[in-house]
Amino acid sequence: MTDQTRRTFLKQAALGTAAVLAYPSARALGANDRIRVGMIGVGDRGNDLLDQIRKVPNVDLVAMADIYSRRRDQAKSKVPGIQTFDDYRRLLDMKDIDGVIVASPLHIHARHFIDTLAAGKDLYSEKTMTWSIPEADRCLNAAKTSGKVVQIGLQHESSGALTDARQWIKDGWVGKVTQVESYMGRNTPHGHGQWVRPVPSDCTEQNVDWKAFLNGRPDRPFDPYKLINWRLFWEFSGGNCAENMVHQMAWIMSALDLPEPSAAYMSGGVFSEKDGREVPDTIVVTLEFPQDTVVTWQSTFSNKHYGLGDRILGSDGTLEHHFEEPLEYWPEKVNRPSGESTKGQSPNQDHMKNWIDCIRSRGTPNAPVELGYRSALAVHMANLSYRHKKRMTLEEAKSMQPEYS
Ligand SMILES: NC(=O)c1ccc[n+]([C@@H]2O[C@H](COP(=O)([O-])OP(=O)(O)OC[C@H]3O[C@@H](n4cnc5c(N)ncnc54)[C@H](O)[C@@H]3O)[C@@H](O)[C@H]2O)c1
Repeated sequence: MTDQTRRTFLKQAALGTAAVLAYPSARALGANDRIRVGMIGVGDRGNDLLDQIRKVPNVDLVAMADIYSRRRDQAKSKVPGIQTFDDYRRLLDMKDIDGVIVASPLHIHARHFIDTLAAGKDLYSEKTMTWSIPEADRCLNAAKTSGKVVQIGLQHESSGALTDARQWIKDGWVGKVTQVESYMGRNTPHGHGQWVRPVPSDCTEQNVDWKAFLNGRPDRPFDPYKLINWRLFWEFSGGNCAENMVHQMAWIMSALDLPEPSAAYMSGGVFSEKDGREVPDTIVVTLEFPQDTVVTWQSTFSNKHYGLGDRILGSDGTLEHHFEEPLEYWPEKVNRPSGESTKGQSPNQDHMKNWIDCIRSRGTPNAPVELGYRSALAVHMANLSYRHKKRMTLEEAKSMQPEYS
C-alpha cells in the first residue's frame, strides 16, 4: 500500500461503515408505550449506565453487545431475559429497539454512533463524542441528517448549577467574562498508576473479539493489557482531556455560550505515572475563544487537594462551580455594589431520563450533538497541540489527519 492508500484505508476503517445514507424511521411511539433500549460496550461505565437506564420508568433494557464474554455474562446475570451479542450489528438489526446507549472505548465511538443512527435508532453516546476531528465532522453530519435524538454522555449539562449559571449570566450578574480557570486533581497510592486496571484471568483471546476492538488499527497479537487499559494509549484514547476536561469544557461552553475554540496550547507530560503509558498525567491547557475569552484547564494525577472546579471570572461577579455542589456567586463590588453573594438552588435533572423524555417528545436533549462536537474539538485541539509541541489553531487542527501512535 502507498502511504496515501494506507491513510485513506485507515481513515475509512476508523470512521466505521463507509456509506451510511439511509435513516429508516423508528417505530411510532405512543405516550404510554414502553421504550426499548439496547447497549453497546458494557464495561465499567456501561454498567453505571445500565443501572441508570433500568431506573427510568417505562423503559425496558432488552439487549446488549460486547466483544468480551465476561461482560455479556455479567449483563445476563444482572438483567433477566436480556439478549446478548458479540457483534453490535446484530443488536442494531433488531427492529423493535428504539434507542441505543454506546459506552465503548473512545476509538470506536464514531463507528457505533454512525451505525446506530443508520439503523434508525435514537442514541445516547458516551463522551468524548469521537476520537478525532474528522470523525466528529462525520458524526455531526450523520446526527443532523438523521433527525434522531442524540444525547452525549456529558451529564453535567443536566446539573442545576448550569441552570443557575445561565440565568445569572443572562441577568447581568457576571458582566464581561475574559477569563475562566478550571482544574481537576486526583491522587493515587504510591506504586499504583491512576486509571490502571487489573487484567481479569478470563481476558483471553478465546473470550474476546480482538479485531473488533482494534477497529482498523494495525493488526497485532492479542494484548489484554491494552484491551483493559486502552485509556493509557493514544491510538485508543484522548487521555485526560478526553476523559475529564471535556466535561468541564462542555459545562463552561454551555454556561457562556462559547463556540469552538479558535486556538489551543497544551503543555505537560508523563511526570508521575511512569508505567509505560503514552498519555500525560500532568496537563496545562489554554483555550482561546473568539469572544475575548481565555479558558485554562490544569490537571494532575499526583495531588487532589483542590479537587475539581471551575471559576468564571467576570467584570461584575464570579461564579464558582464544583461538581455535585450548588453554584456560588460573589459580586465584584466595584461594578455591582448592591450585589449579594448567593448559592444556587436549581435541582439537578436525570441525564438519562432526559434522553428518554426526548425520545418521546422528539425534543432536543440537554447535551446535544453540537455541544458534543464543540467540546470534542477542544479536546482534540489541545491534544494535537501537545503532540506537535505548538499552538494549534482551529484551521490547522481541522486540516490534520489523525495518527494512531
Ligand atoms: N460520562 C462519564 O462520566 C464517564 C465516566 C467513565 C467513562 N466514560 C466513557 O465511557 C466509555 C467507556 O469507558 P469504560 O471505562 O467503561 O471502558 P471499559 O473498557 O471498562 O468498557 C468498554 C467496553 O466496551 C467493550 N468493547 C470494546 N470494543 C468493543 C466493540 N468493538 N464492540 C462492542 N463492545 C466493545 C469492552 O469489552 C468493554 O466491556 C469511554 O468513552 C469513557 O470516556 C464516561
